[in-house]
Amino acid sequence: MTPTNHVRIVEVGARDGLQNEPALLPAASKIALIDRLSATGLQAIEATSFVSPRWVPQLADAAEVFSGIRKAPGVSYPVLVPNLQGYQRARAVGASEVAVFTAASEAFNRKNINASIDESIERFIPVLAQARLDGVLVRGYVSTVLGCPYQGEVPLGDVVRVARRLHELGCHEISLGDTIGIGTPAKARAMLHAVAQEVPIAALAVHFHDTYGQALANILACLEEGVRVIDSAVSGTGGCPYAKGATGNVASEDVVYMLHGMGMPTGIDLDQLIATGAWLAAQLGKPSASRVTRARTAV
Ligand code: HMG
Ligand code: MG
Repeated sequence: MTPTNHVRIVEVGARDGLQNEPALLPAASKIALIDRLSATGLQAIEATSFVSPRWVPQLADAAEVFSGIRKAPGVSYPVLVPNLQGYQRARAVGASEVAVFTAASEAFNRKNINASIDESIERFIPVLAQARLDGVLVRGYVSTVLGCPYQGEVPLGDVVRVARRLHELGCHEISLGDTIGIGTPAKARAMLHAVAQEVPIAALAVHFHDTYGQALANILACLEEGVRVIDSAVSGTGGCPYAKGATGNVASEDVVYMLHGMGMPTGIDLDQLIATGAWLAAQLGKPSASRVTRARTAV
């Protein structure tokens, strides 16, 4: 089967980006950010995270933010939940899509969610069961698919096992995360290829951080392998609180610029996305990490 050229971008800046920015944005600015993103043509905007506020204080206002955003028709607003408690908090404010997250590395999981891989999956079982009853879609994240800040190499077999398990449990989409942005294109492609032997490629997404400047090259390799869902963050904000030195996700503006340049439609208005990225950088008081935004807004 020839894959379609259309690419679905999952915008994760309001969650993955803001969870690790030293500047704490007020809830009203987060709401304004998501509302602006909703007007760009994005189909999926991860809005926030119902994790422990002690672990991620930047997103302690999750309920206020989720309640305050305008839900545009045709746009999904998934939120991160680590356990049933998070799921219930998310549902209480009307979330209809959630994401659970674990890692292919035991050491990373211990630092990130204070649990082993198997324990974390045990916590997802009641979330997935309740979500099925509620008609809520659940995305699954697998972190550290190309390397771990604590354990180093991550065997491909571990990535495949965790991705397959999340899919078997009912996650409709599995996002494969290079949490520390350490991967290179051939490795990224081989990782995706191995997972796609067990989980249909149409149910896979890739999630690259740009720490080593490899993210666009890795995405291109994965597009060639057939993936059509890409996570990215406007302005390239953030990192991971439990992965020291990790920079933000690849910038959405840069991904969209590359895709449109290759004739791969996204439905996103690049100019509006750039304006939103520039606005966010001003709110955070730092230059945008997007090369496209910097090029287009240079004076
Ligand atoms: P724990 O301390 O082991 O949990 O944390 P616990 O179950 O023992 O609970 C301890 C306290 O937390 C209790 O409160 C609970 O009520 C509370 P206390 O009785 O002490 O007052 N609690 C909660 N509060 C609010 N919402 C909740 C919740 N759950 C428990 N959902 C836990 C375990 C998982 C909660 C914690 O480790 C946590 O929240 N971790 C989140 C870490 C995080 O958000 N990391 C970043 C996201 S992952 C990521 O960025 C990677 C990704 O982008 C992909 C990639 O790049 O690879 C997705
Ligand atoms: Mg991430």
